[in-house]
Amino acid sequence: MAILEILNYPDPRLHTVAKPIKEVDASIRRLIDDMAQTMYAAPGIGLAATQVNQHIQLLIIDTSEEKNQLQVFINPKIIEKDGEREFEEGCLSVPGVYETVTRAAHIKVEALDKNGQTFSLEAEGLLAVCIQHEMDHLLGKVFVEYLSPLKRNRIKNKMLKLRRAM
Ligand code: NI
Repeated sequence: MAILEILNYPDPRLHTVAKPIKEVDASIRRLIDDMAQTMYAAPGIGLAATQVNQHIQLLIIDTSEEKNQLQVFINPKIIEKDGEREFEEGCLSVPGVYETVTRAAHIKVEALDKNGQTFSLEAEGLLAVCIQHEMDHLLGKVFVEYLSPLKRNRIKNKMLKLRRAM
């Protein structure tokens, strides 16, 4: 397993639209293992393949306390959603920034698991937020894009300054 480099906002590669995965093979499972190690090391509760510069429809999530319940979503689709809920979000690609975003309160998602089997899952609370946040990454969207242009620019400048300082 390997720790992968996470792209940081405003890296333009974060705006790449991910392609569906045709076959869940050994190379995909290897990427899942590397992404899991990367996410746990960060530490984070979700990671989309886009963030490690792999532009395929794959995301992983673990919202458990013990960090032992990895959930894998391949080619995820939201098939139902309702309600609205505000949540303070963060992102491994925008370190140190936490902002409130409004999303659907309840979703039903359909995806493939790491064995290529279809499953569906109903989610609310943190898990629902996390799935929607990571699915946005696959569409090339970073959560700061929900904020006002003023706020977004402030974050962009802060990130660029941080990068120059490294
Ligand atoms: Ni994120």
